[in-house]
Amino acid sequence: MKRILIDCDPGIDDALALALAAGSRDTLDVVGVTTVGGNVDLPLTTANALALREFLDLGDVPVTPGSAGALLRHTVRATAVHGVTGLGNAVLPAPRRGPSEGHAVDFIVDTLRAAPGEITLVAVGPLTNVALAVRRDPRVVEWARDLVIMGGSYSRGNHNPAAEFNILADPEAAAIVFDAGWTVKQLGLDVTLSAVVTSDVLDRMRPLGRLGAELLVPAAQSYMAVTAEGGPAIHDACAVAYVLDPSLFTCVPAVVNVETNGTYTRGMTVTDFEVGDRQANALVATSLDVKRFWDLVLGAYERLAAR
Ligand code: BDR
Ligand code: CA
Repeated sequence: MKRILIDCDPGIDDALALALAAGSRDTLDVVGVTTVGGNVDLPLTTANALALREFLDLGDVPVTPGSAGALLRHTVRATAVHGVTGLGNAVLPAPRRGPSEGHAVDFIVDTLRAAPGEITLVAVGPLTNVALAVRRDPRVVEWARDLVIMGGSYSRGNHNPAAEFNILADPEAAAIVFDAGWTVKQLGLDVTLSAVVTSDVLDRMRPLGRLGAELLVPAAQSYMAVTAEGGPAIHDACAVAYVLDPSLFTCVPAVVNVETNGTYTRGMTVTDFEVGDRQANALVATSLDVKRFWDLVLGAYERLAAR
């Protein structure tokens, strides 16, 4: 059984990543969900995580709110993509239970400390909470079994030509995380843009009862309406899929530096695959087996819907 702690900003694709985790509970144990301001403001990302916990039947998994905004920068949001609520056209039942006491950064530090080498931290929003956890206690780098992120790219941006949203939303935090001493498992746009909800995928989501009708289909459809190129990619599900089956991806060691100052390139992940005798700080995904990815994801959704 793999144990994961998910730091997220739901977010349509965050929701679909949580659904993948929920449908994989035979092999994946979600020990906590922490939230960060990102796609929408923190109160909404937290409310969405709480609604998803109940809708996806995640049981008693604690949901702990964290950082509302970036370490230094003004706030960047993605409401144009995720809608004003953060979940597009999906409307979930209001959650009955509230968030846990305390702050996400403490939850991350305490949870990793309590089980050194066991828990993989999966971060699919801006890296503010993770950076603050590193600053709070740098030993999180040793305690985490792994750090898997959706963020950045070596080939392009999406928020602008240079920068991917999660990195652009808090470049200083991303720089702290990449410099912390672990080998970041990085699923960037280079691969996540191929995890597209095609009309065939949508057809396989339709028969999935309430999961399909209330979350997957309306969320994917509202995402389709605003995604310019190639259809809607469920970026964040790639990070959970990596934990479930890393062999879906080809990954290459690299030295990744985050540009924090460039006028046009702030938030860019400058990726050097010519590592030489330096220590790689990232294992960067360069390709995804799309067919096996969807078999894994839709299989999990089918199991979840059948519960
Ligand atoms: C990332 O940005 C957010 O809008 C998505 O939820 C995803 O985490 C993709 O660039
Ligand atoms: Ca996200």
